[in-house]
Amino acid sequence: MTKEFKRTLITTALPYTNGPVHIGHLAGVYVPADIYARYLRLAGRPVTLIGGSDEHGVPITLKAKAEGVSPQDIVDRYHALIKKSFEELGISFDIYSRTTSDIHHRTASEFFRRLYDKGEFVEKTSMQLYDEEAGQFLADRYVTGECPHCHNGHAYGDQCEACGTSLNATDLINPKSAITGSVPVMRETRHWYLPLDKWEPALRHWILDGHKEWKSNVYGQCKSWLDMGLQPRAVSRDLSWGVPVPVEGAEGKVLYVWFDAPIGYISNTIELLPDSWQTWWKDPETRIINFIGKDNIVFHCIVFPAMMMAYGDGFQLPDNVPANEFLNLEGDKISTSRNWAVWLHEYLADFPGKQDVLRYVLTANAPETKDNDFTWRDFQARNNSELVAILGNFVNRVLVLTHKYFGGTVPAAGELQAMDNEIFDEVLRLRDALTENLENFRFREAVKDAMAIARLGNKYLQDAEPWKIAKTDMTRVATVMNVCLQLCADIAVACEPFMPFMSRKLSAMLGLGTLSWDMIGGRDTVKAGSTIETPELLFEKIEDDAIKAQTDRLERIKEENRIKSWQPEPQQPDVDFDTFMKADLRVGTVLECERVPKADKLLRFLIDDGIGRRTIVSGIAEHYAPEQLVGKQVVFIANLPPRKLRGIESQGMILSAMNADGSLKVIAPSEPSTPGAQVK
Ligand code: 2FM
Ligand code: ZN
Repeated sequence: MTKEFKRTLITTALPYTNGPVHIGHLAGVYVPADIYARYLRLAGRPVTLIGGSDEHGVPITLKAKAEGVSPQDIVDRYHALIKKSFEELGISFDIYSRTTSDIHHRTASEFFRRLYDKGEFVEKTSMQLYDEEAGQFLADRYVTGECPHCHNGHAYGDQCEACGTSLNATDLINPKSAITGSVPVMRETRHWYLPLDKWEPALRHWILDGHKEWKSNVYGQCKSWLDMGLQPRAVSRDLSWGVPVPVEGAEGKVLYVWFDAPIGYISNTIELLPDSWQTWWKDPETRIINFIGKDNIVFHCIVFPAMMMAYGDGFQLPDNVPANEFLNLEGDKISTSRNWAVWLHEYLADFPGKQDVLRYVLTANAPETKDNDFTWRDFQARNNSELVAILGNFVNRVLVLTHKYFGGTVPAAGELQAMDNEIFDEVLRLRDALTENLENFRFREAVKDAMAIARLGNKYLQDAEPWKIAKTDMTRVATVMNVCLQLCADIAVACEPFMPFMSRKLSAMLGLGTLSWDMIGGRDTVKAGSTIETPELLFEKIEDDAIKAQTDRLERIKEENRIKSWQPEPQQPDVDFDTFMKADLRVGTVLECERVPKADKLLRFLIDDGIGRRTIVSGIAEHYAPEQLVGKQVVFIANLPPRKLRGIESQGMILSAMNADGSLKVIAPSEPSTPGAQVK
């Protein structure tokens, strides 16, 4: 980094309030942003961490409709939940506000109005789908219909979730309004467009020439957008939920959610710092960093910068946009609508006091350069064999030994030996690597560097063996324990950005006071003569049953999703009536029923068919115990040619319904019927 900045404004993507936040959000955006902010604070560099909820957009209104409540009810619910769970996880926002606030509505409205007055928009009319019954235009998500590509009958107006194709609402076959179910008509509407093409040369220069240092996933995505050529983008929508378009004659229109949301970063800064916010946005000596997920790159690197260029007035563009890739869960894409996620508020309830474990695992396994997978087994392993066995173990041994040999008073170091000096030098090297990695948003590497201090400590303690020399040379023991205590202080500081709860506990035990980055590598941070509190464990083992409860939950969800997404088989080709009538369907009463030995699926039935008795073998043993069926009536096909199954001749076939959950249910007459009665 060549340029020196006076301050850093960190923004985090504003999460939509149509559901809680999950580990994908955390790993992609909030944990890395918080690590970075905490590091800068420790380094004594001015920083502001901005967060907030994105409370507009169609999915929120659809959720409200489905629940029969107002959109405001939905956003109030999730804003409160999200804010509280971020706080509990220790995300150190300086402000966490929301886009339904007055200040945001005013700011976004003023932003639009200035562009409008400057003539930065083009106005265009186009044909859009309109619901005549509801009397409103239908935004993409409000239209469902058949996908023109895969013929899934439940595609949305912007995307088919079955085949993943992006769609326009007007592409759908047999479109239907999600509001009234009626067939929409085409109607003309007028909207404002931001001509991104006008800003293309400036954007190319700014990103492609000026920010070659950006992460390759971010730079690459920007380059491919720019190379495809930019088009004007509509910044208004025909909706009632959102920031009203502040222009006469624009009743029933609001700002597009992606126009107002990034302005939320500015509104939230104004709310936090009403007198000095301009310094944080307009002073070239402020550095702006946007933490986002990869699906937000185009809006942060192309659309919002174009909006700011059009606005002018000194607004600074971001200096870096360290977007992450996606985190998957147990091999599948995280999905709010399919409930395939680990929700933060549920994690906090299920694993109280274990915020740092989640923060650590999500950092050590962060999707920085490619999509990554979260598994509960990995979570358990990283806790048990890294946090407990390496970090927790080292600190605990040091504190216990200090109590054992020195009654909890920090001993003064005697003369240092080569191995002691080497340790201090090694910590300084690790500090430099750690700092370099943090400065460049390589948090996975950074957390390894911080953990390496604990590994180093374990090795040092093992090599120095104070328990062996305690009988002969207490001066040497004092030196070793003093060095170890300095390493514990290094851990408290170096790990603070990643695991602030552990750091606070450890700092308190060591009596460290206010932490600062330059304490790392210090030889006198923990003062000789000071008192060490009674040691408390920093991490505890996570047992198998806690993990099993989580994996069982995911299994249940998978099953529920399978049932939800079940669709009846397409109808078979027509058969003519006479052919159908040839099948002789009859009612029979089950006289005997038993399992067929060595065949898990088969049951042997003896049926009273009205004429005599017949044996039928049926593959429903996984669905019924034999005794459940004795005495019951069933429907069977009487005129199939006999067939041998496991050596038993089966004289017909019992009919069953095959259900969404995979279960089979035998078909029976609704009232007792005469054995042999034909089914007509
Ligand atoms: O993708 C999302 O979840 C958006 N709500 C992010 C918005 S980021 C910013 F522009 F507010
Ligand atoms: Zn499709």
